[in-house]
Amino acid sequence: MDHRADPQFSTEAYDDVIARVATDAEGFWLDQAATHIDWVSEPTRALDDSRAPIHRWFPDGELNVCYNALDRHVTAGRGDQAAIIYDSPVTDTIRTITYSQLLDEVSRFARALSDRGVGKGDRVVIYLPMIPEAAVAMLACARIGAIHSVVFGGFAPAELAVRIDDTRPKAVVSTSCGVEANRILEYKPMLDEALGLAETTPDFTVIVQREQHRCELGETDLDYAELLAATPSGIDPVTVRATDELYVLYTSGTTGRPKGIVRDSGGYAVALSYSLPTVFSLEPGDTMFTASDVGWVVGHSYIVYGPLLAGVTSVLFEGKPIGTPDAGTFFRIIEDHKVNVHFTAPTAMRVVRKEDPEGKLIRKYDLSSLRASFLAGERLDPDTYEWTTRVLRQATGRDVPVVDNWWQTETGWPIAANPLGLTRFPLKPGSPTKPIPGYQVEIVDPSGTPMPAGQEGLIVIRLPLPPGTMATVWGDDSRFVSSYLSAFDGRYLTGDSGYIDEDGYLFVMGRTDDVINVAGHRLSTGVMEAVISSHSAVTETAVIGVHDETKGQIPRALVVLGSSAEALDREELKAELVALVRQEIGPVAALRRIDIVPALPKTRSGKILRKTMREIADGAPDPAVPSTIEDPTVLDDLHSVLRPG
Ligand code: COA
Ligand code: AMP
Repeated sequence: MDHRADPQFSTEAYDDVIARVATDAEGFWLDQAATHIDWVSEPTRALDDSRAPIHRWFPDGELNVCYNALDRHVTAGRGDQAAIIYDSPVTDTIRTITYSQLLDEVSRFARALSDRGVGKGDRVVIYLPMIPEAAVAMLACARIGAIHSVVFGGFAPAELAVRIDDTRPKAVVSTSCGVEANRILEYKPMLDEALGLAETTPDFTVIVQREQHRCELGETDLDYAELLAATPSGIDPVTVRATDELYVLYTSGTTGRPKGIVRDSGGYAVALSYSLPTVFSLEPGDTMFTASDVGWVVGHSYIVYGPLLAGVTSVLFEGKPIGTPDAGTFFRIIEDHKVNVHFTAPTAMRVVRKEDPEGKLIRKYDLSSLRASFLAGERLDPDTYEWTTRVLRQATGRDVPVVDNWWQTETGWPIAANPLGLTRFPLKPGSPTKPIPGYQVEIVDPSGTPMPAGQEGLIVIRLPLPPGTMATVWGDDSRFVSSYLSAFDGRYLTGDSGYIDEDGYLFVMGRTDDVINVAGHRLSTGVMEAVISSHSAVTETAVIGVHDETKGQIPRALVVLGSSAEALDREELKAELVALVRQEIGPVAALRRIDIVPALPKTRSGKILRKTMREIADGAPDPAVPSTIEDPTVLDDLHSVLRPG
């Protein structure tokens, strides 16, 4: 069917914006800044390129992000509207927090932090599960100009320690426990272990005591509830520059230390406020349910800041797509809270499908409020796209767009999507549709030459990146330039490969580095290799991300042992290595399979053939073997390990 004749598929609005941005990007973004944000000093300049290739947006603008997310909505009469609906099947709780109530708690917590010496530019590490206090702590930091760094709960104490040492926080906000479907996760011992490992000692920690498990508080631990009770009045928002840092969020890079992605205040506020109506087609008063975690960028942008900046109600969900209590939980929430836009990772839909292949649980609920389902964090495979589209059609009796959107921690908001608020393009399964205005996406070969339509290459984005994207790597401008901006002149290297077809649709095929996506979680195989290699029995290892039906990818390790390991029990050793990765990186690393092999295949220059091994494990019909392979028999011997049967 040719959708182009259908008015809903008119591309006029999109084409107009693309044309405007192409000729006058600065004017366009200044207009967005004026439309969406209440400034203390409205910016008169859009772009500062004086330190190119590093660009900054709105250099003379001044604002407060928390004010824009809360106070102004209350002043405008939205005080009684729900800001956050906390829906926690694991604790059997549903709690609505209005904009007025959230402003009250945030401004009092901000005062409590400020009274204890936390001020503009100071860092606060937040190590919390999906509870409203996570959003409160983030917004309280924004209110006083402190820079928050949220650490995902699935990371081990050692990873938390690395982040504490990199940001050197004045305070840490954490909790007594996290609650999973069938167990309590004690956070305090993990925090204490991390603080023991870290060289940095924060001035104090604030602990949210949860009734499911209370913990002992130490000398420098403050009880969140007591602190709030002792702080009857809030604090006014402080003015920061648009270019001042709002947060640092760590992400896996290519081996070594995780990278602290720095987000500015003004550019981010403008970009998110632009994206809510444009990409997600959400207006003030609507409800967005993003089933992710505040520890990831999706949580920062579309559980906390995005919806609140736009006056939208955000559902904060403490649970899993299945098992809390069943595969219908997302859909129960959509009915209960009249959700307009749902956002999650493809993995989540795959696990729902596994439990409820016919979508019977989904059909139980009234999904009449639902306008679209957004999926991101990993490639949306056509099968999952088709299934989700089908079950939503069965449940609603209409066509609910399932929108693949591609972006990264670095960009902070979608690079490509079907921008429902501008134009609804006909969907092509496997494609996140088209670049969002502001992103000039190109495909190049390794020498930087543009690739013709339909041919796969490296995905790059022409500089400057739009507002809201990363400002730098925390404390390390040169790492920002060397990791992202120096491969090709005037281009940002995304680390993904893909192609653009003849109709301008982008297809994102996978990473070109050692980053893998496991259940929508971004992990580095290089970091896992470093942990495994630290074991005295191991001489060499390669960790590869292989295809997994549910999680998209899972890590697999191939290990070569030294002669000292001959006497060791191999099964015990494998279990030890799995435990080591879990202990050093965290349960989220999800490394379960280790194979002990006599040797690893390499090129003559010593490069391990990870890509070839991955292709064999994934069952590629014709895995690419470089002509420079040192000893082809090593690879031949591995076939039965990588692809048994
Ligand atoms: N705190 C502590 N531990 C956590 C955690 C958290 N926030 N999140 C995950 N873990 C643990 C899990 O309990 C699990 O531990 P286990 O090995 O002891 O069972 C381990 O980390 C691996 O977790 P995960 O890979 O998430 O697998 P899972 O089987 O627990 O759940 C899904 C699978 C698909 C349900 C889950 O990964 C999910 O909801 N994914 C969506 C991802 C997402 O939101 N991504 C963000 C981008 S939108
Ligand atoms: P993160 O920084 O955790 O958001 O992970 C970003 C990476 O996830 C990207 O570089 C891609 O490799 C992958 N990714 C995210 N969304 C998509 C998508 N819609 N399609 C394909 N890959 C995606």
